[in-house]
Amino acid sequence: MAEEILRITGGRKLSGDITVQGAKNSALPLMAGAMLCDSRTVLHNVPALTDVYAASRILNRLGFRCSVSGHTAVIMPGEGGTEIPDEEMRAMRSSVMFLGPMLGSRKRCVITMPGGCELGPRPIDLHLDAMRQLGVQIREQQGRIVCQAERLHGTRIPLPFPSVGVTENVIMAAVLAEGETVLTNAAREPEITDLANFLIQCGAKITGAGEGTVVISGVKKLSGTEYSVMPDRIAAFTWLCAAASAGGTVCIRGTEPKDMESCLSLLTAAGCRIGICRDRIYLDCTRPLRNLRYIRTMPYPGFPTDAQALITAVLATSEGAGLIEETVFESRFKHVGELLRMGADIRVSGRTAVIYGVPCLHGAEVEAMDLRGGAALAAAAAGAEGETVLRGLSHLDRGYDHFAETFNSLGGSALRRTISTAVR
Ligand code: EPZ
Repeated sequence: MAEEILRITGGRKLSGDITVQGAKNSALPLMAGAMLCDSRTVLHNVPALTDVYAASRILNRLGFRCSVSGHTAVIMPGEGGTEIPDEEMRAMRSSVMFLGPMLGSRKRCVITMPGGCELGPRPIDLHLDAMRQLGVQIREQQGRIVCQAERLHGTRIPLPFPSVGVTENVIMAAVLAEGETVLTNAAREPEITDLANFLIQCGAKITGAGEGTVVISGVKKLSGTEYSVMPDRIAAFTWLCAAASAGGTVCIRGTEPKDMESCLSLLTAAGCRIGICRDRIYLDCTRPLRNLRYIRTMPYPGFPTDAQALITAVLATSEGAGLIEETVFESRFKHVGELLRMGADIRVSGRTAVIYGVPCLHGAEVEAMDLRGGAALAAAAAGAEGETVLRGLSHLDRGYDHFAETFNSLGGSALRRTISTAVR
């Protein structure tokens, strides 16, 4: 058996200057949204990720013609099926985002339950309820969920929770529906605004994206366009946390600082010096930092759940004690067990983690259990004494474009190696 690992040598300050990748959580819905267009769409600044390639495979299986080359994706309309194969549904958690545009464009979509994953069960009940309200009939057949509609009609949809994916699916299903859809308690994440801006550029009529109420007036058709994906705010925060964990001075270019206010304010409160100049974020950190008494993950504009593991890695070696409450996902502390192997002192109870800062972590063999948890372990390794071996790189490759190269451009020392492993 062969396995890829990252050998990270920590204990030295980071120093460097990188340009952040395009946003995974925008590129994926944009690729799905292109299904609604009757002509070619070209997306720029698409990050080179396995999730992007999985989305491209799904588009091609559905009869669209999608090609991804470098950081550009080209999607051409086409005729084809309406069933997303189970293996593709399982390959990418967020394949449920094809539901809205498939129903919007072909009035039929067959999906399977996306498997539970590292963050706990990933139900899609809110997605299905919202589609029903738009006129979709849904029935389950041996694990396959068959969704179809004569026509989609606009309506008022109050969301019980500001779900990012449900907000995106409703917008993509409603843009070609008959009449007006009013979505209340909608998610406000910047990726929602990016999707709406793309669809408006294609001819959609959408107002209020990024606010709590989004109004979509159905139109007859959408034309493809050229569009550039927004910067990845969580990837940008990842690199800032690696520098905060190791100490040092870094500059992250190509960012949208206004999307990151809740993240940057926490690093400042912990003692980092942060400067902003247009699309650049500068961070200067002299360790030790100080712990933060209470952090709560919330829907945007609150502190994002995707950043929770990353700030935990920074606070593991910050002076004092602090508490983090994870309010969005049921099970998003799997990185803590791996941080304990590096000498961290963290206690988890349910959705709460109490962090007792220790002076320094030490290298260890650790495993990524999910995308952001894996990135957090690498950030912790940057500041740890000695060498850390990070396994589970498939998680990192889902969301980070050339993780090791970027890490090393900031002065880190990460070597990606293939090792043979006895059957474990
Ligand atoms: C999106 O996931 C992101 N993924 C996630 O990023 C991110 O963590 C999440 O939003 C929250 O910001 C993409 O954009 C591809 P939700 P999504 O619907 O849409 C529950 C990463 O690391 N829920 O806002 O799935 C759900 O179980 C990934 O980049 C239902 O109960 O998130 C969760 O507890 C991880 N029923 C909560 O809502 C449903 O039908 C938030 O989910 C849908 C969701």
